[in-house]
Amino acid sequence: MSMHPSPSVERPVILTGDRTTGPLHLGHYVGSLRNRVALQHSHHQHLLLADAQALTDNAHDPAKVRRNVLEVATDYLAVGIDPDVTTICVQSALPALAELTVLYLNFVTVARLERNPTIKDEIQARGFGRDIPAGFLCYPAAQAADITAFKATVVPVGEDQAPIIEQTNEIVRRLNKQAGRDLLPEAQALIPAVGRLPGVDGRAKMSKSQGNAVLLSASDKEITAAVHRMYTDPHHLRASDPGRIEGNVVFTYLDAFDEDHQAVAELKAHYQRGGLGDMAVKRRLEAVLHGIVGPIRERRAALARDPAFVMDVLRTGTARARDLTAATQAEVHAGLGLFTWT
Ligand code: TRP
Repeated sequence: MSMHPSPSVERPVILTGDRTTGPLHLGHYVGSLRNRVALQHSHHQHLLLADAQALTDNAHDPAKVRRNVLEVATDYLAVGIDPDVTTICVQSALPALAELTVLYLNFVTVARLERNPTIKDEIQARGFGRDIPAGFLCYPAAQAADITAFKATVVPVGEDQAPIIEQTNEIVRRLNKQAGRDLLPEAQALIPAVGRLPGVDGRAKMSKSQGNAVLLSASDKEITAAVHRMYTDPHHLRASDPGRIEGNVVFTYLDAFDEDHQAVAELKAHYQRGGLGDMAVKRRLEAVLHGIVGPIRERRAALARDPAFVMDVLRTGTARARDLTAATQAEVHAGLGLFTWT
C-alpha cells in the first residue's frame, strides 16, 4: 500500500537529484541531503538519480555512472530518505525527460548556455577547453526538463546550482509565453543557510576526485584521520597564541555540524583569545562527526547487504515517476499545439 500523501493535500513539490558519479559525502549532506530528509513529510518530494546528466562529462566511463546509481540510492536511504514518502527514480529510465529536453533546446540559445556561470565554471574545472561535449553545454535545458516534468516549485541544491534554476525559469517563461498560458510553474532554488562545505584540505569544494572528501560510508578511523589533517590557522603554532577562525576548516565544520551553537561560540572566543590548541578543537569535531556518520554508515552497510531491496525501491519510484513525467510531457506537447492524433 502506498503511503504517499494524497495529491489533493496542497504540498509544494520538490525535485532534486545528484549525478551518479560517486558515493555521496559530507558536502552533499550539508548542502542538500539534510534538507531533503527534513522536507520530505511536508512536501511531495522526488529525487532523481541523474545518470543521464552524469554521462554529459563521463561518456568515457558509463560503467562508473551505472554503478553509482545504486551507490547514491543507498546513500539516500542511509541518511533517512523514506521511500514511502519520497520518490527515488532513475533519470535515464524516464523517456519523457529526454523528450522535453529536445523541445526545450529550442527555447534557449547557445550563447545563453555559454554564459551560464555554473557551466562556465564547470567547463573550466573540467579542462574541456574548446572540446565541450554538446550534452554538457546543454545540460541546463535537460535539468529544466527534470524540474518541470515533475512540476516542482522547490529545488534544494547547493549554491553553485542557482544559475541552472534561473535558466530553468527563463525557459519556463518562454514556453508559457508561447503556449499563451501558465503551462508550467517556475521553481525556486532552496539553498542551505550554511555555505558550501570546504574540503578537509581547505580547498573551496569537497570532492571525492580531489581526495579531500569524507564519505558517508567513512569509518571512525577515516574520519579521525581526515580531521587530523584538516587545515586550521597556519600561524597558530602554540596553543597559547591567539588563533584565527576565518578560513579555519575545523570551525567551518563545527558551524555546519555541531548543534550546540553556544559551545561552539565559546570555543571560538577561546581560540581567538589564545590558550586553546588545535587538537582540543579537532577532538570535539571528531566526536560530532562520529555521531553523525556512525548511524548513516551502519544503515548503509545493512542496505548494501540487501541490494534487491534497493532495486525494488528504484523500480517502484521510477514507475511512479514515469507516469508523472509522461503526463507533463503530453501537456507541454499539446500546450504548444504540436501534432496530436485526435
Ligand atoms: N546538476 C545537479 C548536480 O550536479 C544534479 C541534478 C540533475 C539536479 N538534475 C537535477 C538537481 C534536477 C536539481 C534538479 O548536483
